[in-house]
Formats: sequence, C-alpha cells, structure tokens
Amino acid sequence: MYGMVNNAIKELILAEHGDQVWERIKKRADVVNEVFLSNEPYPDETTYRLVEASASELEMTAEAVLQRFGMWWVLKTAREGYGHLLQNCGRTLPEFLRNLPNFHTRIMMMFPELRPPEFECSDAEPDSLRLHYRSSRKGLAPFVVGLLYGLGEMFETTIHVAHERSVGSGADHDVFLISWESPASPP
Ligand code: HEM
Repeated sequence: MYGMVNNAIKELILAEHGDQVWERIKKRADVVNEVFLSNEPYPDETTYRLVEASASELEMTAEAVLQRFGMWWVLKTAREGYGHLLQNCGRTLPEFLRNLPNFHTRIMMMFPELRPPEFECSDAEPDSLRLHYRSSRKGLAPFVVGLLYGLGEMFETTIHVAHERSVGSGADHDVFLISWESPASPP
C-alpha cells in the first residue's frame, strides 16, 4: 500500500502513545524505514506487520487496531490532507455513502498504482442502506467499520453499523447494514 497508509499508522501511534511505543512497534514489526514516502507503494506485508505489532504492543486485537485506525484515517489523515476530496464526495452521510463506490477512482489519478477497495450500495432507505465491500486483500473489514464510524463523526450523524456478512465467516464479500439518525435540522 502507498506509504501514506503506513505514515498514518505512525502518526496515530505517536499521537496516542508516544515515540517510545512507536519505536517498540517498529522493532517488533521488523520495519527499518525511518520514513515512508507517501506517494510510493510499499509491500502490503509492511502494513500488516505494523498492525500486528501495534496490537501486541498495545494489548489489543488486530481488529480493534484496524477499527481505531479507520476512524483516525477519516478524522485526521483524510480531513487534514485531502479535505477537498472528502468535501466533493457529499454534504451529508447518506450522500457520501452513495458516492463511495466512485470515490477511489479520483484517488487513482493521483496514485496510479492504487489497488482500491470496491464498494456498492443496495437497499437504500431514508435512514439506512447496505454497503457491499470487496477487496483483493484479507482481513480489512474492521478498518471499514472504523472508517464508517469516522464518517458518522465527521458528518455529526449518529450511525450504527451491523456487519451482516463477512468473508471471515465464508461469505463471498462483506456486507454492512448502516443506519443513521437524521441530524437535527438547523433552527
Ligand atoms: C481522501 C481520502 C482518502 C484517500 C486519499 C484514500 C486513499 C487510499 C489509499 C492510498 C489506500 C491504500 C491502497 C493502495 O495503496 O493500494 C486506500 C485503501 C483503502 N481505502 Fe481509501 N482513501 C480515502 C478515503 C477512504 C474512505 C472514506 C473509505 C471508506 C469509507 C476508504 C476505504 C478504503 C479501504 C477499505 C481501503 C483498504 C484497501 C482494500 O480494501 O483493499 N478510503 N485508500
């Protein structure tokens, strides 16, 4: 994955646990890079090792690390570095979710070697929809859950995510039922 992903993990750990913990995680993950170049692709293996090492060091599950990282990605990495892309994708949570299937297409123009996730929406209702997630990678569904809760927070909308079908349990792709409360209308 592009170096920006590893950098975001590094920034999350530094912000919430400090540089000594980051040094221990790097060592445990056998990562020797002092810096990751944001627009260079790195082997996925490096990212997975950083997640595993963070989980061991912080005594969390890898799923919990990925979920926390998903929230961080939306609320810090994307908002601070790529705010314009987020803004163009929608003004409300449901609008953003409906546009998500096309979102990484634009990012591919900036990062041509991107292997993006695939999203599809179905069963759209005024207060819910189903999001279908397909990936060439394994085990990233908890990252998606964190991203979705991060989007809820970004749009100041209370959401609930139910992981209805999972590749981990034999399904051919992951399905999330996302429901939300309408934000209070302005006075
Ligand atoms: C402006 C904001 C965003 C940028 C710049 C961005 C960019 C990226 C990059 C560089 C990767 C790594 C893939 C690779 O290097 O091959 C990635 C992966 C991913 N992105 Fe985004 N992304 C953004 C927002 C989002 C949002 C809002 C979602 C969903 C709610 C999302 C879902 C994912 C997922 C699930 C992956 C993991 C890859 C996989 O499943 O195979 N991203 N994205």
